[in-house]
Amino acid sequence: MRKLQCTLVLLVASCAHQGLVPATPYGRSADLNSSYEAKGAGGVAVATQGRYATDAAFEILRRGGNIVDAAVAVSMVQAVERPHSTGLGGGGFVLWGKKTAAGGKVEAWDFRERAPLAAHSKMFIDLKSGKAVPELSRYGRLASGVPGMVAGLYEFHRANGKLPWKELLSPAIRLAQDGFEVNPELASALEGKSDILGANAAARAIFFHPREPRVLKEGERLVQSDLASTLKVIAGEGKDTFYKGSIAKKILEEARLSRLLITRSDLHRYKVKLRPVLQSEFRGSTIYSMPPPSSGGVHLLQILNTVERAPLEKWGILDSRSVHLVASAMQQAFADRAQFLGDPDFVKVPVAELISKEYAYSVQEKIPLDRARPVSEVRAAPFRAPVESDDTIHFSIMDSEGNAVSSTQTINGHFGSGIVVRGTGILLNNEMDDFAASLSGANLFGAVASSRANFVEPGKTPLSSMSPTLVEKEGRFVMALGSPSGTRILTCVTQVLLNRLVFGLSPAQSVAQIRYHQQWQPDQIQVDEPGFPAELKGRLEKLGHKVDTTNLGCRVQLVERDTESSSLTAVSDIRAEGSARVER
Ligand code: GLY
Repeated sequence: MRKLQCTLVLLVASCAHQGLVPATPYGRSADLNSSYEAKGAGGVAVATQGRYATDAAFEILRRGGNIVDAAVAVSMVQAVERPHSTGLGGGGFVLWGKKTAAGGKVEAWDFRERAPLAAHSKMFIDLKSGKAVPELSRYGRLASGVPGMVAGLYEFHRANGKLPWKELLSPAIRLAQDGFEVNPELASALEGKSDILGANAAARAIFFHPREPRVLKEGERLVQSDLASTLKVIAGEGKDTFYKGSIAKKILEEARLSRLLITRSDLHRYKVKLRPVLQSEFRGSTIYSMPPPSSGGVHLLQILNTVERAPLEKWGILDSRSVHLVASAMQQAFADRAQFLGDPDFVKVPVAELISKEYAYSVQEKIPLDRARPVSEVRAAPFRAPVESDDTIHFSIMDSEGNAVSSTQTINGHFGSGIVVRGTGILLNNEMDDFAASLSGANLFGAVASSRANFVEPGKTPLSSMSPTLVEKEGRFVMALGSPSGTRILTCVTQVLLNRLVFGLSPAQSVAQIRYHQQWQPDQIQVDEPGFPAELKGRLEKLGHKVDTTNLGCRVQLVERDTESSSLTAVSDIRAEGSARVER
């Protein structure tokens, strides 16, 4: 098996050569064995936020699996190597691009968490003050939605996989059982949430040093024996054990002891949903992305459409006119998000209108080129509504035949709710924080609501920003990409698309390029640190933008296929842990 990879050092060098602004790899492992960009003449391209996950993908492919099988193995290994980001207690989305005789067919799989039946719109409000209490939706007993990960992966595999289900879990079982050395990123997440983890005995038993009162440190071994046993049961019995069988029993016992809202009927009625894929033409390419209950695809397409007619390539990538226009388009998109977006099974979302060229062009005409608009001036679209890290994970896989998987999965904030289901190693999500608790508060990612569209209701799916995305050209999938980091996901993915499709940067440059984010409220452009040019910051401030320097948390995982040569490229964001590989 041939393996082609370039090192982190080469990637930085090539970016510097182009005169661009490469992001400093502040989160990366000191061990440079994992590569961040790879190219190859064919085979399969994989980009993930881990090294064991990428290894697992190729282990399964070598055994004769297809990329769906590889995607399941990657998801399960990421649940073990990134317990702060994703896991069996969470959920996610997959965009599956399948090559057919007629071209390509795309499916959007929704296995996000659902609100328990006992959930209600006032559950995060302090009755005395009438104000939302953010801690209630972020930590502890009320924070978790009904997990969809196991059902989603199982059904996605049942419909499209090749190898037997139980074979796919073996790399994850091995890793959980044998353990691995805590890397810098996981060490930092553990440190950041040591109080939450320390407060839960089952979490403490996993993530704390066995003899010292502290979380595991970089270089120490994380073994997850209970999780290994749980994975073995799921490998043998499939999804039913999680929703009706022995794992369900343990979840319900935890619900009783910790007074969680999740009941037997919540587990029984959990359903994976196939959603209508969003699609729009953009400068000669077809972009496919995730529909509601994600806001990601809607606003990604809306922003692209808004800037489509502007001479961005003439202005240049880090020109204040380009950044001003793109950031102003983001601002409008987030005003619309706050008003209209929610679970389409509960509220009618004007999707067609929001992603229409007509609306986008009208928005472009209203954006003054000589000044920033304050929040008060940016109103949601006048549509009649008929009647929301650095956590989360994304991986992308593409084969030389033109099949593609783009999947974003999460337990929301680092270590989710902080509650581990006793005896299972499963950390429960805190996805309930992605609902709007009130019209005055903001969630973990600062997202606000201007309507009740994303208020909590029993069985409802919390609004997401996860944006697994595919790009098709001449009837063939050419790109699969996505990222973690809450509301920033959709703007980071949008910028990588602009870097690639408009500014003509290479795949690696497109991912490494400095990024920015505007989400209407707070009224500021957040620019990724470090490396945003001071001169550009000054120009934007002159236009009236407030500019805040921050770590946006996006870690874009991109795979590409060249239509002529069928050669493949994989890029894993240089900013943090991850690996990219192409093998045949
Ligand atoms: N929990 C992050 C998202 O779904 O966007």
